[in-house]
Amino acid sequence: MAGQIPRQFIDDLLARTDIVELIDHRVPLKKTGRNYAACCPFHSEKSPSFTVSPDKQFYHCFGCGANGNAISFLMEFEQLEFVESIEELAQLHHLEIPREQSIHPQRPAAQADDYSLMQQAADYYQQQLQQHPDSPSVKDYLAQRGINQQTMADFAIGYAPDGWDNILKRLSPSNNKPLREQLVELRLINRSDSGREYDFFRQRLMFPIRDRRGRVIAFGGRILGDGTPKYLNSPETRLFHKGRELYGLYEARQQPGHLEQVLVVEGYMDVVALAEQDIRFAVACLGTATTSDHMHTLFRYTPRVVCCYDGDRAGLDAAWRALQSALPQLKDGVELNFVFLPQGEDPDSLVQKEGKTAFLQRITDAVPLTQYFFQRLIQEHNPATDAGKSALSVQATELIKQIPSEFYRETLLDKLANLLGQTRQQQKKSTTKAANKLKPAKIKITPMRRAIGLLLQYPNLVNIMPDAPELAHSNIPGIGLLLSLQQRLQQQPSLTTAQLLEHWRDLPEHNILLKLASWQHQIEPEQLSQEFVDTFHSIEDQYLQQRLEALERKDKLEQLSKVEWHEYKLLLQALKSKKPKLAT
Ligand code: UTP
Ligand code: MN
Repeated sequence: MAGQIPRQFIDDLLARTDIVELIDHRVPLKKTGRNYAACCPFHSEKSPSFTVSPDKQFYHCFGCGANGNAISFLMEFEQLEFVESIEELAQLHHLEIPREQSIHPQRPAAQADDYSLMQQAADYYQQQLQQHPDSPSVKDYLAQRGINQQTMADFAIGYAPDGWDNILKRLSPSNNKPLREQLVELRLINRSDSGREYDFFRQRLMFPIRDRRGRVIAFGGRILGDGTPKYLNSPETRLFHKGRELYGLYEARQQPGHLEQVLVVEGYMDVVALAEQDIRFAVACLGTATTSDHMHTLFRYTPRVVCCYDGDRAGLDAAWRALQSALPQLKDGVELNFVFLPQGEDPDSLVQKEGKTAFLQRITDAVPLTQYFFQRLIQEHNPATDAGKSALSVQATELIKQIPSEFYRETLLDKLANLLGQTRQQQKKSTTKAANKLKPAKIKITPMRRAIGLLLQYPNLVNIMPDAPELAHSNIPGIGLLLSLQQRLQQQPSLTTAQLLEHWRDLPEHNILLKLASWQHQIEPEQLSQEFVDTFHSIEDQYLQQRLEALERKDKLEQLSKVEWHEYKLLLQALKSKKPKLAT
C-alpha cells in the first residue's frame, strides 16, 4: 500500500533538479544577467516577463504572478498532480520513489502497481486478439472496418473474450483479497451486491486509453456488431478522469516533430480510422463535451485545434460548448476552428468514402472561431432589433472578457462594434478589466515580511540570524513562520528557496511564502546582511515595546510582581539604549 513520499526524498529530488534546464527544455530560455527569461507560458504576452532564478531554483512571472519551484512548474505546465510531478522528476533522475509505511491503509493517489495492472490487462486483451479461438472473426470485423495490423498495434487494440472470469483469473490467480480490491477499484472487475466478482469487459473490442505518458489508465470496449451499449467505458477511477483525458493524444504525440494541429473528433473509431488513412493528429473526448481542461491540454501541444462535429443540431451545440470552454485558453498565437460534416457522416465514414486529400481539405477550410462566434450569436439574437442588439452585445462582451489574448479580444470587439454599428469607445472599459485581473496583487512589505522574504530568498542569512527564542511568545503576525524557517534552516543549512517552499506546500502559509519568494526588493547585494539584521532587530524592538506596554497596562490594574518590575526596568533600559539607533 502506498504511503507518503518521504520529505527527505523530495528535498533530494529538488537538489538534483536544475530548474533552468527543466524549464528550458519546454520553454526556451534566454540568459539575462543572473537569471533567465522567456515569454510566460501561463499567459499570453509579447515581451518576456517570465524569469527563472538558478540560485533560488524558482520561477516567477511579473505579468501574471505565476511562480513556484520545479514541482510546481511541472504541475502547472504539464497539468500533473503533485505525485505525478514527483514521479516525472524521479524518472528524470532514474530514482525509485520510496514510500513511508502508512499506518492508515488509505490510498490518496495512484498505487504503485495500478499502472502495471492496467498494462497487464491491455497486454492480455492484445494477446487474445491474436490467440483466442474468436480471433479470426474479430479480425474480420476489424478488416471490414478497414483497420490493418499496424494500426491495431499502434493503438494497442485488443479483444476481451466472452466469459466471466478471464481477466480475474489472469491478474489474480489466487484469491488475494487486496489485489481483488484493487482490481475492483480500477474497474477491471465488477463486484455484485452479493459479492460475486466478474470481468467488467466481456466479448468486446478493446481500446486502451493512455495518458500523456503512455500509461494505460482506462479502456473503451466496443460491442462486435450491433447491440447495446455500443461502447462500454471504464468509469472514473483514481487513474482516469474523463474531463482531462483525450483518446489518441499520446499516440499523436509519438509522431516526429511538433504537432502542427490537432483534430478533435467524437469517437474512438474516428481516431483509429483517420490514423489508418495516415491522418495521425486526431483525438477524441471520451463521451463528454470538450472541457476547458481539454482545451488547455491541447494548446500546450499544438497552436491549432480543429473541432470536428456533425452538421446537425447536436453537432452545432457541441461546437458552441467547445468554443465557450476554449475562450479562457485562447492565448496569442493559437487558433480554434470548426469543421461541420455532412448529415449522417462521421470522420471514419467520410475519410473512407472520400479519401485522405479531400478530408484534409475540409480541415484546411475549417470555420475560424471568430466567424463561428458571431454566426451563433446572430442565430440567438436578431441584430436588426434593439432588443436583439443589446442582448447580443451583453452576451458577446461577457464571453470576450474571458479571453486572455489581446489579439482575439480586439478582433472580436471590432467585429462586434461593426455588427452593432457602434464605435469601439463604448465597450473598451468593460474588457480591459479582464486583462488587469491578471496582474498579480502587490503585497505590503511589513518588517516581518521583509525578514521572512529575505531569509527565504537568501537562506544563507540564517548564519547571521540571532537566536531569539523569547520572540515565540510575541503575537506579532508572522513570527511563527519566521522562527520555523530559521529552525528548518538550522537543521538543514543547504536548503534552497525552492526546497523551503516545498516544505510548506500544503500549509496555509504557502501562498504568502510564494509571494515573498518573488518579492522584488531593491537592496544591493552587499547591503543584504545588514538589512536583514536591522530588520530582525526592529522586530525584536517591536516585541519589547509590546511587552512594555502590556506591563504598563497590568500595572494600572494590579500590582506588578517583583519579577515583573525587574523586567519592566530592563525593557525601559533596552529600548532607551536602542532609540538613537532606530532614529537614524
Ligand atoms: P458513436 O456512436 O458515434 O460511435 O459514438 P463511433 O465512434 O462512430 O463508433 P462506431 O463507428 O459506431 O464503431 C461516439 C463516441 O461516443 C461514446 C464513445 O466514446 C464513442 O466513440 N459512446 C458512444 C459511448 O461511450 N457509449 C456508447 O454507447 C456510444
Ligand atoms: Mn462511427
